[in-house]
Amino acid sequence: MNVLFVDSGIGGLSVLAEVIRDIPNLNFIYFADSAFAPYGTMTKEQLTARLKQIISQFKSQINMVVLACNTATTNSIDILRTCFSFQIIGSEPAIKPAAKISEKIMLVCTPLTAKSKRLDSLIMSCNKPVKIFAPKHLAYCIDNFYLNNNRHAKVCIDKTIENVIKNSCDCQSIVLGCTHYCFLKDKFKEKTKLPILDGNFGIKQQVKKHITLSNLSEHPNHKFVSSAKNKELVKKYQIIFLQTLAKLTDV
Ligand code: DGL
Repeated sequence: MNVLFVDSGIGGLSVLAEVIRDIPNLNFIYFADSAFAPYGTMTKEQLTARLKQIISQFKSQINMVVLACNTATTNSIDILRTCFSFQIIGSEPAIKPAAKISEKIMLVCTPLTAKSKRLDSLIMSCNKPVKIFAPKHLAYCIDNFYLNNNRHAKVCIDKTIENVIKNSCDCQSIVLGCTHYCFLKDKFKEKTKLPILDGNFGIKQQVKKHITLSNLSEHPNHKFVSSAKNKELVKKYQIIFLQTLAKLTDV
């Protein structure tokens, strides 16, 4: 049985690499919903309906889902859990660990995550002020740069990073609350001395807790699927995954 990882694009590959580094024998399907990206500017209803459709499509091949996407988790996980009987693991912004080391936290997330009730509750439970920065086009630009090498996208990414850093001067940590933004972690580290947190370690721990022997094989099945019209993209997802994994393994 496979574990289905779902994201709108490359973001979830950072989650997948973190998981596979520790569990290389895991059977997985990575679904990149490029035809519907970005998720961060959809409505909650549109996104939930789309995720239901994706999970239903793979239902017979899987026994666990990882929403490798903060936007999907903060807006849709509760509803999805009532629709499917298997385990659904989510990705939430790492506000809790950030609250332990900061008086004020800078959270960078998507517009739809910023509007979610689940994020409100998470922030309330931490009892620390959180400054939210939710750029409209950042996830789109990250996909466009990494998948298509688009130069304009690179300019937009660099400008946004500068903006985040400028706005974080009264904060003691920056939380990357979108799995796409994990691809910018090194850039942030280069440009600021603040700790940069993401939720990938926590997701990996959750997956480890719930996998069964049926999810593991000596010769695991690693499959990449995309809703993109351009089927060449699938190869790129695979390459970016391997590069991300190699980088993690090198550290
Ligand atoms: N990677 C996703 C997240 O963690 C979604 C980005 C998007 O498509 O807007 O929120």
